[in-house]
Amino acid sequence: MSDGDRMVSGGKRPDDQLDNALRPRRLDDMTGQERVVENLRILIEAAKARHEAVDHVLLYGPPGLGKTTFAHIIANEMEVNIRITAGPSIERAGDLAAILTHLREGDVLFIDEIHRLGRAVEEVLYPAMEDFALDIVIGKGPSAKNVRLNLPRFTVIGATTRLALLSAPLRARFGAVYRLDFYSLEAMSSIVSRAAQLLGVPIEEGGVAEIAHRARGTPRVAQRLLRRVRDYAEVRADGTITADVATEALNLLEIDPLGLDDIDRRVLLAIIEKFQGGPVGLDTIAASISEESDTIMDVYEPYLLQLGFIERTPRGRLATPLAYQHLNIEDTRPPRQHSMF
Ligand SMILES: Nc1ncnc2c1ncn2[C@@H]1O[C@H](COP(=O)(O)OP(=O)(O)OP(=O)(O)O)[C@@H](O)[C@H]1O
Ligand SMILES: [Mg+2]
Repeated sequence: MSDGDRMVSGGKRPDDQLDNALRPRRLDDMTGQERVVENLRILIEAAKARHEAVDHVLLYGPPGLGKTTFAHIIANEMEVNIRITAGPSIERAGDLAAILTHLREGDVLFIDEIHRLGRAVEEVLYPAMEDFALDIVIGKGPSAKNVRLNLPRFTVIGATTRLALLSAPLRARFGAVYRLDFYSLEAMSSIVSRAAQLLGVPIEEGGVAEIAHRARGTPRVAQRLLRRVRDYAEVRADGTITADVATEALNLLEIDPLGLDDIDRRVLLAIIEKFQGGPVGLDTIAASISEESDTIMDVYEPYLLQLGFIERTPRGRLATPLAYQHLNIEDTRPPRQHSMF
């Protein structure tokens, strides 16, 4: 099963078109991520006061936490245009040059999945970000000439789920780097309430709590669960999402009270049952349950780490006693020798 088929993955799925309707437009509409919001407020206010473009911003963190949303908000708050592209879709240096020469003063260039930019494209981006210049070669052979074109001052907003894959020189060109974390339960509850209100779905407090608990700290998952629970409420009940309706709907979707689904459980069970609790390499886990290592690393692992169900050690992933407890499996391993790590 690909990541796109899963109910609780943070990644985008086809039925997420409603994303746009639910997407917060201004910093004031953003719930949670207080540290990022506060930092952006300062960044934006200072840039506005100086009538300058905002410094280049890099946003990283697991899927569905609001990287794209923040990029749009920054452009909105700065009252500038946003040009949206993604690492894999800029194939050649010339593609990027074409994008850059069409930017206007102050514009935001949003590059999603920026870790997937090709080397040659990155080389064009460096001087563009640093000196707002585009170096082009005119002609061929011995008569070729280097020409430097000036670009307007613009802002690159990069987003990535994999900070580690970003090259050091590229990372160094971002003046502001922010990590997005999973949302608190409180923030998730407000996000569920707000989404229900925007979608016109009648929901009780208990229903909000049930969805918020199982949305793994991820707004995109919350919205998706809300839509499925709404379907259930309309078909199997009177349309109102009560705590009971939400519980029944989510149980039917096999999403457990912590938001874990079948794949999460298979990851944990693989470590525990096939590899005696670990440590075991991620690729080995992935192969043993026929999933992609990348998907496990981007989507499942961050939340399992956050729950404290797995630990990363130099020798691989380790299931913690909490994971055993959650799955109701007795932990018969000898006490850990911490000096090992
Ligand atoms: N703080 C928030 N409050 C309310 N809704 C939010 C918040 N953050 C994100 N969302 C909603 O969650 C959804 C996913 O957000 P977004 O697309 O920005 O995530 P992302 O980090 O860019 O994910 P990806 O890595 O998959 O691109 C959007 O529909 C957005 O409306
Ligand atoms: Mg995005």
